[in-house]
Amino acid sequence: MRRIIFLDSVDSTNLKLKQLADAAPNGTAVIANCQTAGRGRLGRNWLSRSGDGAWFSVLVKDARLTSLNAEGLVFCCALAAVDALKELSGKEILVKWPNDLVLNGKKLCGILCESGFDGDKLKWSVCGIGINLNAESFPPYLPYATSMRLETGLVYDSRQVALDTLARFDTYTEMLYNDGLEKLTGLIAPISATLGREVRAIYAGTELQGTAERLLPDGSLLIRTTDGPVSVRSGEVSVRGLYGYI
Ligand code: BTN
Repeated sequence: MRRIIFLDSVDSTNLKLKQLADAAPNGTAVIANCQTAGRGRLGRNWLSRSGDGAWFSVLVKDARLTSLNAEGLVFCCALAAVDALKELSGKEILVKWPNDLVLNGKKLCGILCESGFDGDKLKWSVCGIGINLNAESFPPYLPYATSMRLETGLVYDSRQVALDTLARFDTYTEMLYNDGLEKLTGLIAPISATLGREVRAIYAGTELQGTAERLLPDGSLLIRTTDGPVSVRSGEVSVRGLYGYI
């Protein structure tokens, strides 16, 4: 049985769950109708207006979680959300490495996984998922954003989408623990919006360009540059298509 905290409004479901992380059991989730300070990767904000989407986070505390396989949690989130949204809409939803879901070339969903360590040991991870469901428009500073409503013309039940995604998330975390991260990268590759494309990766103050060639077993992305292959890890990297969002 999962403990789920439903909130009308919260600063950020990730922040809330991080405050609870030491005492709360594995699987605890926070689902909010709106976030006043939704957080994205790389210090960005995440627009989380009331009723516009599913904004939720789940706590992972499991002795099988290591600093190596924790990289796979973002893939567990992505695969779970793709499954839930595909079942609802029949649409082809792709994964833009490492943490975005893409529909018709635009960003539909973002994932932010944050972890707490005890020395080298991973004590907890908070996996936050934001799915744009019912937004009818986005501000001009988000030119690549889209919602399920904009793409399908339908209105979605955000609580149900969050619950469906959470149920599927458990299946993928079991897969991660039992079969390893490589199994998940094998599932992501065929639905990748990144592989085979010309990309620009920006990390640690450097920038490189090349073809996104393949996902490595540890979840990193291999980019073929004119100077040879470079593998980039998901943590602090921004990867964009050379000619647009993907
Ligand atoms: C990104 O694309 O930059 C990641 C966005 C993650 C947004 C979700 S919404 C639920 C959870 N709470 C947060 O504050 N952020 C994540």
